Amino acid sequence: MNQINDNQKTNQTPSVPPGSFGLPWIGETIDFLTDANFADKREAKYGSVFKTNIIGKPTVVMCGAEANQFILQTHFDNFSWREGWPQNFRELLGESLFLQDGAEHQKNRRLLMPAFHGTALNNYFATMMEIIDRYLDKWSKMDNLTMLSEMKKMTFEIASVLLLGSDMGNDDQITELSKNFSDLTAGLFALPIKLPWTTYSKAVRGRDFLLKHIETEIISRRKNPQQDALSLLIQTQDEEGDSLDEAQIKVQALLMLFAGHETTTSMLTCLFMALAQHPDILNQARLEQEGLSSEDNFNLEQIKKMTYLDRILKEVERLYPPVPRGFRGVVKPFVFKGYSVPKGWQVLYRIEKTHKDKNIYSQPEIFDPERFSPERAEHKKVDYSLVGFGGGSRFCLGYAFAQLEMKIFATKLLRGFEWELEPNQDLSLKLIPS
Ligand code: HEM
Repeated sequence: MNQINDNQKTNQTPSVPPGSFGLPWIGETIDFLTDANFADKREAKYGSVFKTNIIGKPTVVMCGAEANQFILQTHFDNFSWREGWPQNFRELLGESLFLQDGAEHQKNRRLLMPAFHGTALNNYFATMMEIIDRYLDKWSKMDNLTMLSEMKKMTFEIASVLLLGSDMGNDDQITELSKNFSDLTAGLFALPIKLPWTTYSKAVRGRDFLLKHIETEIISRRKNPQQDALSLLIQTQDEEGDSLDEAQIKVQALLMLFAGHETTTSMLTCLFMALAQHPDILNQARLEQEGLSSEDNFNLEQIKKMTYLDRILKEVERLYPPVPRGFRGVVKPFVFKGYSVPKGWQVLYRIEKTHKDKNIYSQPEIFDPERFSPERAEHKKVDYSLVGFGGGSRFCLGYAFAQLEMKIFATKLLRGFEWELEPNQDLSLKLIPS
Protein backbone atom coordinates (compact mmCIF):
# COMPACT_ATOMS: atom_id res chain seq x y z
CA MET A 1 0.00 0.00 0.00
CA ASN A 2 1.44 3.40 -0.96
CA GLN A 3 0.98 6.37 1.27
CA ILE A 4 -0.75 9.26 -0.53
CA ASN A 5 1.30 12.40 -0.01
CA ASP A 6 -0.31 15.63 1.16
CA ASN A 7 -0.16 17.28 -2.25
CA GLN A 8 -2.08 14.47 -3.90
CA LYS A 9 -4.79 14.56 -1.19
CA THR A 10 -5.55 18.24 -1.43
CA ASN A 11 -4.53 19.23 -4.97
CA GLN A 12 -2.60 22.14 -3.47
CA THR A 13 0.44 23.80 -5.01
CA PRO A 14 3.17 21.17 -4.67
CA SER A 15 5.37 21.49 -1.62
CA VAL A 16 9.09 20.80 -1.37
CA PRO A 17 10.04 17.17 -0.66
CA PRO A 18 10.08 15.83 2.93
CA GLY A 19 13.39 15.58 4.79
CA SER A 20 15.64 17.69 6.97
CA PHE A 21 18.11 20.46 6.19
CA GLY A 22 20.05 19.52 9.34
CA LEU A 23 22.18 22.02 11.22
CA PRO A 24 22.58 25.66 10.22
CA TRP A 25 25.40 26.22 7.70
CA ILE A 26 26.87 22.66 7.59
CA GLY A 27 23.46 21.03 7.07
CA GLU A 28 23.85 17.23 6.92
CA THR A 29 27.28 17.32 5.21
CA ILE A 30 29.13 15.43 7.95
CA ASP A 31 26.64 12.54 7.86
CA PHE A 32 26.81 12.55 4.06
CA LEU A 33 30.60 12.32 4.11
CA THR A 34 30.89 9.72 6.87
CA ASP A 35 27.82 7.48 6.72
CA ALA A 36 27.77 5.00 3.81
CA ASN A 37 24.03 4.51 4.43
CA PHE A 38 23.21 8.22 4.45
CA ALA A 39 20.77 8.11 1.54
CA ASP A 40 19.31 4.65 2.29
CA LYS A 41 18.34 5.71 5.83
CA ARG A 42 16.60 8.83 4.59
CA GLU A 43 14.91 7.02 1.72
CA ALA A 44 13.49 4.51 4.25
CA LYS A 45 12.15 7.39 6.34
CA TYR A 46 10.93 9.88 3.72
CA GLY A 47 10.53 7.96 0.45
CA SER A 48 12.37 8.02 -2.86
CA VAL A 49 12.46 11.83 -3.11
CA PHE A 50 13.77 13.72 -0.10
CA LYS A 51 15.46 16.95 0.78
CA THR A 52 18.68 17.50 2.70
CA ASN A 53 21.46 20.08 2.81
CA ILE A 54 24.94 18.99 1.76
CA ILE A 55 28.13 20.79 0.83
CA GLY A 56 26.49 24.14 1.47
CA LYS A 57 23.38 23.72 -0.68
CA PRO A 58 19.77 22.63 -0.23
CA THR A 59 19.65 19.32 -2.09
CA VAL A 60 17.00 16.97 -3.37
CA VAL A 61 17.93 13.29 -3.62
CA MET A 62 15.92 11.45 -6.29
CA CYS A 63 16.17 7.66 -6.40
CA GLY A 64 15.32 5.22 -9.18
CA ALA A 65 15.25 4.78 -12.94
CA GLU A 66 12.39 7.26 -13.43
CA ALA A 67 14.37 9.94 -11.59
CA ASN A 68 17.48 9.14 -13.66
CA GLN A 69 15.54 9.59 -16.89
CA PHE A 70 13.99 12.83 -15.64
CA ILE A 71 17.43 14.30 -14.80
CA LEU A 72 19.51 12.83 -17.62
CA GLN A 73 17.04 13.06 -20.47
CA THR A 74 13.51 14.43 -20.31
CA HIS A 75 14.24 17.47 -18.08
CA PHE A 76 17.90 17.84 -18.96
CA ASP A 77 17.53 21.63 -19.44
CA ASN A 78 16.43 22.13 -15.84
CA PHE A 79 19.90 21.09 -14.67
CA SER A 80 23.46 22.39 -14.86
CA TRP A 81 26.71 20.42 -14.54
CA ARG A 82 28.67 23.54 -13.71
CA GLU A 83 26.43 24.33 -10.73
CA GLY A 84 26.69 20.71 -9.55
CA TRP A 85 30.42 20.87 -8.72
CA PRO A 86 31.96 22.40 -5.60
CA GLN A 87 34.06 25.57 -6.05
CA ASN A 88 37.37 23.64 -5.68
CA PHE A 89 36.63 21.73 -8.88
CA ARG A 90 36.23 24.95 -10.82
CA GLU A 91 39.65 26.21 -9.85
CA LEU A 92 41.52 22.91 -9.95
CA LEU A 93 39.99 21.39 -13.07
CA GLY A 94 39.71 24.65 -15.01
CA GLU A 95 37.09 25.55 -17.60
CA SER A 96 36.75 22.01 -18.88
CA LEU A 97 33.84 19.84 -20.06
CA PHE A 98 32.55 19.00 -16.54
CA LEU A 99 32.02 22.69 -15.91
CA GLN A 100 30.43 23.56 -19.24
CA ASP A 101 26.76 23.61 -20.17
CA GLY A 102 24.55 24.30 -23.19
CA ALA A 103 26.03 25.31 -26.54
CA GLU A 104 29.57 25.64 -25.15
CA HIS A 105 29.46 22.07 -23.84
CA GLN A 106 28.00 20.68 -27.08
CA LYS A 107 30.66 22.35 -29.20
CA ASN A 108 33.55 21.15 -27.03
CA ARG A 109 32.11 17.66 -26.70
CA ARG A 110 31.97 17.43 -30.51
CA LEU A 111 35.61 18.52 -30.71
CA LEU A 112 36.75 16.02 -28.06
CA MET A 113 34.74 13.08 -29.38
CA PRO A 114 37.01 11.99 -32.29
CA ALA A 115 39.90 11.36 -29.90
CA PHE A 116 37.83 8.82 -27.94
CA HIS A 117 35.86 6.94 -30.60
CA GLY A 118 36.00 5.03 -33.86
CA THR A 119 39.30 4.82 -35.67
CA ALA A 120 41.18 6.66 -32.89
CA LEU A 121 40.79 3.55 -30.76
CA ASN A 122 42.75 1.48 -33.29
CA ASN A 123 45.70 3.76 -32.62
CA TYR A 124 45.53 3.13 -28.86
CA PHE A 125 45.27 -0.65 -29.07
CA ALA A 126 49.01 -1.36 -29.34
CA THR A 127 49.95 1.11 -26.58
CA MET A 128 47.36 -0.27 -24.17
CA MET A 129 48.40 -3.83 -24.93
CA GLU A 130 52.09 -3.15 -24.44
CA ILE A 131 51.58 -1.52 -21.05
CA ILE A 132 49.09 -4.17 -19.89
CA ASP A 133 51.45 -7.00 -20.95
CA ARG A 134 54.28 -5.40 -19.01
CA TYR A 135 52.24 -5.07 -15.80
CA LEU A 136 50.81 -8.60 -16.03
CA ASP A 137 54.30 -9.93 -16.52
CA LYS A 138 55.56 -7.98 -13.51
CA TRP A 139 52.67 -9.17 -11.33
CA SER A 140 53.16 -12.79 -12.36
CA LYS A 141 56.59 -12.65 -10.74
CA MET A 142 55.20 -11.43 -7.41
CA ASP A 143 53.81 -13.81 -4.77
CA ASN A 144 51.34 -11.29 -3.34
CA LEU A 145 50.13 -7.96 -4.54
CA THR A 146 47.62 -5.30 -3.56
CA MET A 147 45.60 -5.12 -6.72
CA LEU A 148 44.04 -1.68 -6.26
CA SER A 149 47.36 0.15 -5.96
CA GLU A 150 48.99 -1.90 -8.75
CA MET A 151 46.01 -1.30 -11.03
CA LYS A 152 46.24 2.42 -10.31
CA LYS A 153 49.82 2.43 -11.61
CA MET A 154 48.85 0.56 -14.75
CA THR A 155 45.83 2.72 -15.64
CA PHE A 156 47.81 5.87 -14.84
CA GLU A 157 50.56 4.89 -17.23
CA ILE A 158 48.04 4.15 -20.00
CA ALA A 159 46.26 7.46 -19.43
CA SER A 160 49.41 9.51 -19.12
CA VAL A 161 50.89 8.07 -22.32
CA LEU A 162 47.70 8.47 -24.36
CA LEU A 163 46.21 11.61 -22.82
CA LEU A 164 49.18 13.56 -21.48
CA GLY A 165 51.72 12.52 -24.09
CA SER A 166 54.18 10.94 -21.62
CA ASP A 167 56.89 8.50 -22.70
CA MET A 168 55.90 4.86 -22.35
CA GLY A 169 58.09 3.02 -19.82
CA ASN A 170 59.66 6.26 -18.51
CA ASP A 171 59.11 5.35 -14.86
CA ASP A 172 60.61 8.54 -13.40
CA GLN A 173 58.41 10.79 -15.51
CA ILE A 174 55.26 8.76 -14.86
CA THR A 175 55.94 8.58 -11.11
CA GLU A 176 56.36 12.36 -10.96
CA LEU A 177 53.17 12.95 -12.94
CA SER A 178 51.32 10.48 -10.75
CA LYS A 179 52.47 12.21 -7.57
CA ASN A 180 51.31 15.58 -8.89
CA PHE A 181 48.01 14.07 -9.97
CA SER A 182 47.46 12.64 -6.45
CA ASP A 183 48.18 16.08 -4.97
CA LEU A 184 45.65 17.59 -7.36
CA THR A 185 42.88 15.12 -6.51
CA ALA A 186 43.53 15.45 -2.75
CA GLY A 187 42.72 19.14 -3.08
CA LEU A 188 39.31 18.60 -4.65
CA PHE A 189 37.67 17.99 -1.27
CA ALA A 190 40.10 20.03 0.90
CA LEU A 191 39.45 23.41 2.51
CA PRO A 192 40.42 25.99 -0.15
CA ILE A 193 43.06 27.68 2.02
CA LYS A 194 46.09 28.85 0.07
CA LEU A 195 49.08 28.73 2.41
CA PRO A 196 52.31 27.10 1.21
CA TRP A 197 51.85 23.91 3.27
CA THR A 198 48.11 23.28 2.81
CA THR A 199 46.61 20.40 0.84
CA TYR A 200 44.89 22.93 -1.37
CA SER A 201 48.09 24.77 -2.29
CA LYS A 202 49.78 21.46 -3.06
CA ALA A 203 46.84 20.68 -5.35
CA VAL A 204 47.28 23.98 -7.20
CA ARG A 205 51.01 23.23 -7.64
CA GLY A 206 50.15 19.70 -8.85
CA ARG A 207 47.69 21.12 -11.39
CA ASP A 208 50.26 23.66 -12.65
CA PHE A 209 52.91 20.95 -13.01
CA LEU A 210 50.56 18.77 -15.06
CA LEU A 211 49.40 21.67 -17.25
CA LYS A 212 53.01 22.66 -17.93
CA HIS A 213 53.83 19.06 -18.88
CA ILE A 214 50.88 18.94 -21.31
CA GLU A 215 51.93 22.30 -22.79
CA THR A 216 55.44 20.98 -23.55
CA GLU A 217 53.96 17.85 -25.14
CA ILE A 218 51.56 19.92 -27.27
CA ILE A 219 54.50 21.93 -28.67
CA SER A 220 56.34 18.71 -29.49
CA ARG A 221 53.25 17.16 -31.15
CA ARG A 222 52.58 20.18 -33.31
CA LYS A 223 55.94 19.44 -34.94
CA ASN A 224 55.77 15.68 -34.74
CA PRO A 225 52.24 14.16 -34.34
CA GLN A 226 51.96 10.79 -32.58
CA GLN A 227 49.34 8.03 -32.36
CA ASP A 228 47.81 9.40 -29.15
CA ALA A 229 44.74 11.33 -27.99
CA LEU A 230 46.72 14.52 -27.43
CA SER A 231 47.76 14.62 -31.11
CA LEU A 232 44.13 14.11 -32.15
CA LEU A 233 42.92 16.87 -29.85
CA ILE A 234 45.40 19.21 -31.56
CA GLN A 235 44.28 18.23 -35.07
CA THR A 236 40.48 18.00 -34.66
CA GLN A 237 38.27 20.59 -36.35
CA ASP A 238 34.48 20.78 -36.35
CA GLU A 239 32.29 21.38 -39.41
CA GLU A 240 32.69 25.15 -38.93
CA GLY A 241 36.47 24.81 -39.06
CA ASP A 242 36.86 25.60 -35.33
CA SER A 243 39.37 23.72 -33.20
CA LEU A 244 40.41 23.63 -29.55
CA ASP A 245 42.97 26.29 -28.61
CA GLU A 246 45.99 25.42 -26.52
CA ALA A 247 44.44 26.51 -23.21
CA GLN A 248 41.38 24.32 -23.94
CA ILE A 249 43.45 21.27 -24.94
CA LYS A 250 45.41 21.51 -21.69
CA VAL A 251 42.41 21.62 -19.35
CA GLN A 252 40.37 19.11 -21.36
CA ALA A 253 43.25 16.58 -21.38
CA LEU A 254 43.65 17.02 -17.63
CA LEU A 255 39.92 16.53 -17.12
CA MET A 256 39.98 13.32 -19.18
CA LEU A 257 42.72 12.01 -16.94
CA PHE A 258 40.66 12.90 -13.87
CA ALA A 259 37.41 11.44 -15.29
CA GLY A 260 38.99 8.19 -16.45
CA HIS A 261 41.71 7.23 -14.01
CA GLU A 262 40.08 6.25 -10.70
CA THR A 263 36.94 5.03 -12.48
CA THR A 264 38.78 2.57 -14.74
CA THR A 265 41.01 1.48 -11.85
CA SER A 266 38.00 0.73 -9.67
CA MET A 267 36.13 -1.22 -12.34
CA LEU A 268 39.16 -3.29 -13.35
CA THR A 269 39.92 -4.14 -9.72
CA CYS A 270 36.32 -5.23 -9.15
CA LEU A 271 36.44 -7.32 -12.34
CA PHE A 272 39.58 -9.06 -11.07
CA MET A 273 37.90 -9.70 -7.71
CA ALA A 274 34.57 -10.89 -9.14
CA LEU A 275 36.22 -13.38 -11.51
CA ALA A 276 38.22 -14.88 -8.64
CA GLN A 277 35.09 -15.14 -6.50
CA HIS A 278 33.03 -16.94 -9.19
CA PRO A 279 34.95 -19.92 -10.65
CA ASP A 280 32.04 -20.97 -12.93
CA ILE A 281 31.88 -17.54 -14.50
CA LEU A 282 35.67 -17.43 -14.80
CA ASN A 283 35.59 -20.79 -16.51
CA GLN A 284 32.96 -19.72 -19.01
CA ALA A 285 34.90 -16.53 -19.73
CA ARG A 286 38.03 -18.60 -20.40
CA LEU A 287 36.07 -20.88 -22.76
CA GLU A 288 34.96 -17.86 -24.77
CA GLN A 289 38.59 -16.76 -25.03
CA GLU A 290 39.76 -20.23 -26.08
CA GLY A 291 37.24 -20.18 -28.94
CA LEU A 292 38.62 -16.87 -30.14
CA SER A 293 42.32 -17.33 -29.53
CA SER A 294 42.47 -19.96 -32.25
CA GLU A 295 41.66 -17.13 -34.70
CA ASP A 296 44.33 -14.75 -36.00
CA ASN A 297 46.18 -12.32 -33.76
CA PHE A 298 44.32 -10.59 -30.96
CA ASN A 299 42.69 -7.48 -32.47
CA LEU A 300 39.67 -5.18 -32.32
CA GLU A 301 37.55 -7.53 -34.43
CA GLN A 302 38.00 -10.31 -31.85
CA ILE A 303 36.99 -7.93 -29.07
CA LYS A 304 33.64 -7.31 -30.79
CA LYS A 305 32.89 -11.05 -30.55
CA MET A 306 33.39 -11.27 -26.76
CA THR A 307 29.72 -11.25 -25.86
CA TYR A 308 30.16 -13.10 -22.57
CA LEU A 309 32.92 -10.75 -21.43
CA ASP A 310 30.57 -7.92 -22.32
CA ARG A 311 27.94 -9.31 -19.94
CA ILE A 312 30.54 -9.70 -17.19
CA LEU A 313 31.60 -6.07 -17.56
CA LYS A 314 27.98 -4.92 -17.46
CA GLU A 315 27.49 -6.91 -14.27
CA VAL A 316 30.60 -5.29 -12.72
CA GLU A 317 29.20 -1.89 -13.78
CA ARG A 318 25.84 -2.76 -12.18
CA LEU A 319 27.07 -4.19 -8.89
CA TYR A 320 30.21 -2.07 -8.39
CA PRO A 321 29.62 1.26 -10.17
CA PRO A 322 32.77 3.39 -9.75
CA VAL A 323 30.63 6.56 -9.85
CA PRO A 324 27.81 5.83 -7.41
CA ARG A 325 25.89 9.08 -7.90
CA GLY A 326 25.75 12.28 -9.90
CA PHE A 327 25.16 15.89 -8.87
CA ARG A 328 23.55 18.73 -10.83
CA GLY A 329 22.59 22.31 -10.04
CA VAL A 330 18.89 23.15 -10.51
CA VAL A 331 18.68 26.08 -12.95
CA LYS A 332 14.93 25.92 -13.62
CA PRO A 333 12.37 24.93 -10.95
CA PHE A 334 10.55 21.62 -11.53
CA VAL A 335 7.94 19.28 -10.09
CA PHE A 336 8.73 15.57 -9.70
CA LYS A 337 6.37 12.98 -8.17
CA GLY A 338 4.21 15.77 -6.78
CA TYR A 339 7.06 17.68 -5.13
CA SER A 340 8.36 21.03 -6.24
CA VAL A 341 12.06 21.84 -6.30
CA PRO A 342 13.17 25.48 -6.60
CA LYS A 343 15.95 26.95 -8.71
CA GLY A 344 19.26 27.24 -6.79
CA TRP A 345 19.04 23.79 -5.15
CA GLN A 346 21.16 20.88 -6.24
CA VAL A 347 19.92 17.43 -7.22
CA LEU A 348 21.57 14.07 -6.69
CA TYR A 349 20.68 10.96 -8.70
CA ARG A 350 21.59 7.54 -7.32
CA ILE A 351 23.33 5.13 -9.67
CA GLU A 352 24.20 2.38 -7.20
CA LYS A 353 20.71 2.32 -5.69
CA THR A 354 19.01 2.04 -9.09
CA HIS A 355 21.26 -0.91 -9.93
CA LYS A 356 19.92 -2.82 -6.92
CA ASP A 357 16.24 -2.21 -7.59
CA LYS A 358 14.43 -5.54 -7.03
CA ASN A 359 11.66 -4.52 -9.43
CA ILE A 360 14.21 -4.39 -12.25
CA TYR A 361 16.97 -6.86 -11.36
CA SER A 362 16.22 -10.35 -10.03
CA GLN A 363 18.25 -11.13 -6.91
CA PRO A 364 20.18 -7.89 -7.32
CA GLU A 365 22.83 -8.75 -4.71
CA ILE A 366 24.04 -11.74 -6.76
CA PHE A 367 26.79 -11.44 -9.38
CA ASP A 368 25.06 -12.92 -12.41
CA PRO A 369 26.25 -11.80 -15.88
CA GLU A 370 23.49 -13.87 -17.54
CA ARG A 371 20.94 -11.25 -16.52
CA PHE A 372 22.27 -9.33 -19.55
CA SER A 373 21.79 -12.24 -22.00
CA PRO A 374 19.42 -11.45 -24.90
CA GLU A 375 16.81 -13.80 -23.35
CA ARG A 376 16.75 -12.03 -19.98
CA ALA A 377 18.01 -8.49 -20.80
CA GLU A 378 16.88 -7.23 -17.39
CA HIS A 379 18.37 -3.79 -18.01
CA LYS A 380 16.09 -3.28 -21.01
CA LYS A 381 12.86 -3.67 -19.01
CA VAL A 382 13.02 -0.11 -17.75
CA ASP A 383 14.82 2.84 -19.38
CA TYR A 384 17.73 4.36 -17.46
CA SER A 385 18.10 1.36 -15.14
CA LEU A 386 21.79 0.73 -16.01
CA VAL A 387 23.55 4.07 -15.67
CA GLY A 388 27.09 3.26 -14.55
CA PHE A 389 28.35 5.50 -17.36
CA GLY A 390 25.60 8.11 -16.94
CA GLY A 391 23.04 8.62 -19.71
CA GLY A 392 21.49 10.99 -22.24
CA SER A 393 23.51 13.59 -24.09
CA ARG A 394 26.22 13.68 -21.40
CA PHE A 395 26.81 9.95 -21.42
CA CYS A 396 30.44 9.15 -20.49
CA LEU A 397 32.72 10.47 -23.23
CA GLY A 398 35.40 7.91 -22.39
CA TYR A 399 33.09 4.86 -22.52
CA ALA A 400 34.65 3.28 -25.63
CA PHE A 401 38.17 4.10 -24.42
CA ALA A 402 37.49 2.50 -21.01
CA GLN A 403 35.79 -0.54 -22.56
CA LEU A 404 38.76 -1.11 -24.84
CA GLU A 405 41.23 -0.88 -21.98
CA MET A 406 39.15 -3.21 -19.79
CA LYS A 407 38.63 -5.76 -22.56
CA ILE A 408 42.31 -5.89 -23.49
CA PHE A 409 43.18 -6.36 -19.83
CA ALA A 410 40.52 -9.06 -19.32
CA THR A 411 41.54 -10.91 -22.48
CA LYS A 412 45.20 -11.00 -21.51
CA LEU A 413 44.35 -12.04 -17.96
CA LEU A 414 41.94 -14.80 -18.99
CA ARG A 415 44.21 -16.22 -21.67
CA GLY A 416 47.42 -16.30 -19.69
CA PHE A 417 47.06 -16.16 -15.90
CA GLU A 418 45.69 -17.77 -12.77
CA TRP A 419 45.22 -15.94 -9.51
CA GLU A 420 43.40 -16.20 -6.20
CA LEU A 421 42.34 -13.82 -3.45
CA GLU A 422 43.95 -13.85 -0.01
CA PRO A 423 41.40 -15.13 2.53
CA ASN A 424 39.90 -12.99 5.32
CA GLN A 425 40.04 -9.63 3.58
CA ASP A 426 37.52 -6.81 3.75
CA LEU A 427 36.54 -6.55 0.09
CA SER A 428 33.67 -4.11 0.56
CA LEU A 429 33.67 -0.99 -1.59
CA LYS A 430 34.61 2.32 0.06
CA LEU A 431 33.01 5.43 -1.39
CA ILE A 432 35.18 8.57 -1.54
CA PRO A 433 33.80 10.76 -0.11
CA SER A 434 31.89 7.98 1.66
C1 HEM B 1 35.11 2.44 -16.07
C2 HEM B 1 35.40 3.68 -16.35
C3 HEM B 1 34.44 4.84 -16.32
C4 HEM B 1 33.24 5.00 -15.67
C5 HEM B 1 32.51 3.99 -14.80
C6 HEM B 1 32.75 6.32 -16.00
C7 HEM B 1 31.54 6.84 -15.54
C8 HEM B 1 31.01 8.06 -15.92
C9 HEM B 1 29.74 8.59 -15.48
C10 HEM B 1 28.79 7.90 -14.51
C11 HEM B 1 29.56 9.79 -16.08
C12 HEM B 1 28.34 10.69 -15.91
C13 HEM B 1 28.37 11.37 -14.55
C14 HEM B 1 27.12 12.18 -14.25
O1 HEM B 1 26.07 12.00 -14.90
O2 HEM B 1 27.16 12.97 -13.31
C15 HEM B 1 30.72 10.03 -16.90
C16 HEM B 1 30.92 11.17 -17.65
C17 HEM B 1 32.11 11.44 -18.27
N1 HEM B 1 33.19 10.61 -18.43
FE1 HEM B 1 33.38 8.73 -17.74
N2 HEM B 1 33.64 6.93 -16.81
C18 HEM B 1 34.70 6.07 -17.04
C19 HEM B 1 35.81 6.30 -17.82
C20 HEM B 1 36.07 7.47 -18.48
C21 HEM B 1 37.27 7.72 -19.25
C22 HEM B 1 38.39 6.72 -19.50
C23 HEM B 1 37.17 9.01 -19.69
C24 HEM B 1 38.12 9.79 -20.56
C25 HEM B 1 39.07 9.30 -21.26
C26 HEM B 1 35.89 9.54 -19.21
C27 HEM B 1 35.42 10.80 -19.48
C28 HEM B 1 34.17 11.27 -19.11
C29 HEM B 1 33.69 12.61 -19.44
C30 HEM B 1 34.48 13.68 -20.17
C31 HEM B 1 32.40 12.72 -18.93
C32 HEM B 1 31.48 13.92 -19.04
C33 HEM B 1 30.80 13.94 -20.39
C34 HEM B 1 30.08 15.23 -20.68
O3 HEM B 1 30.03 16.10 -19.82
O4 HEM B 1 29.57 15.37 -21.81
N3 HEM B 1 35.26 8.57 -18.48
N4 HEM B 1 31.59 8.96 -16.80
